Amino acid sequence: MRLTQSSIEGLSAVFVERFGGPPTHLARAPGRVNLLGEHTDYNDLAVLPMALQREARLVFRPRNDGMVVLHDVDPEFDDVEFEILPGIPPGKDGDWGNYVRGPASLLARRFAIWRGFDGVIGSDIPVAAGLSSSTAVVTAVGLALAHINEVPVEARSFAELLAEAERYTGTQGGAMDHTISMGARAGCAAKITFKPPRMRHVQVPADWCFVIADTGRRAEKSGAAKNVYNTRRAECEEAFSFVVEEVVRSDRTRMIPTDYPSLLRAIPAGDLLPVAEDVLRSNLLRRFRHVVTEAARVDEGIDLLRAADTLRFGTLMDASHGSLRSDYLVSTPELDEVVAIAREGGAAGARLTGAGLGGCVVALADRSTVDLVLEALVSEYYEPRRLYDRLDDRLFLAVASDGASVREL
Ligand code: GLA
Repeated sequence: MRLTQSSIEGLSAVFVERFGGPPTHLARAPGRVNLLGEHTDYNDLAVLPMALQREARLVFRPRNDGMVVLHDVDPEFDDVEFEILPGIPPGKDGDWGNYVRGPASLLARRFAIWRGFDGVIGSDIPVAAGLSSSTAVVTAVGLALAHINEVPVEARSFAELLAEAERYTGTQGGAMDHTISMGARAGCAAKITFKPPRMRHVQVPADWCFVIADTGRRAEKSGAAKNVYNTRRAECEEAFSFVVEEVVRSDRTRMIPTDYPSLLRAIPAGDLLPVAEDVLRSNLLRRFRHVVTEAARVDEGIDLLRAADTLRFGTLMDASHGSLRSDYLVSTPELDEVVAIAREGGAAGARLTGAGLGGCVVALADRSTVDLVLEALVSEYYEPRRLYDRLDDRLFLAVASDGASVREL
């Protein structure tokens, strides 16, 4: 949890020191909190995130050659320097510079970009906490390079490109994080569907408070969590092909479903689960059940959000956490404990957010209960563990914010 001073003035001062002159541009990209729809995006099923007030900020100055020279004000991360080429060799596993090389490499392949930049980057998104700090870096760098090289940017298709760029790091992630970081609207959450990418913005009720509580256990998407993540993705694909084989064999559908959305259009979830129970062994059945029930929770959740039905939305969040814990096996004892404390403290619902295996919980409260929830978390989780250091970065309220942008300074 090392967060850095990332005001534009602060970053610009560091830039002047390093590069001997002021930066000319700023690219910014927010982190996100996902409210419902976990591990559904890479199965092409819906998600319901919102962008946060916390963001990555990159001040930069275009160069007249193909070098990217980037300094991160967080001392945890080394400086990055490379030449833009269509196939930039990745740094070693877990190297954060791969989040910078990835978008450069892909933009060079797709658009033959050649011009790099000098830059200084900072972020106030907690790192490896399930709030998309790495995607914010990918997005800010991608936007900066697109701007400098006059690559046209349409939010949703650019988000897909960024998702592909991030797979350079070896994690076979979906496009949720990039899509919300690019296309979010202040005050709103968005239901995102894929193939083709589509966003429906829904106002978050004024009375709703989403509490973010970091367990303090890191979930390194480029480290240990990567294998679990990629394994889950492969398990979902395997489960899908067994179920499709069976529904086709038993003549339940004439069209052969090619992905989860077409499977669920052909056969409703309620009819599909008994088929899955027949043909899948235990671990695949659990993954399949999570994905299918979680997609249904997103569909229901968007209606409840529109209706400002706090209690029922909270119930969906609880069910989502239960499914992530028992069927998807991506919770941890700390995440379960924070969820339980938030619930007992008066939250309408709570769940892990992001990929899991560490990181944050998101809890829903309203204005009359939010202080009780915060107090419960402080006295029962943070105080006993002596996690007082920068408590405002571990425990805060999410403010639904605008998507990424790039501008001249
Ligand atoms: C990570 C990935 C996303 C998504 C979530 C889990 O954040 O980057 O694409 O799969 O995990 O919902």
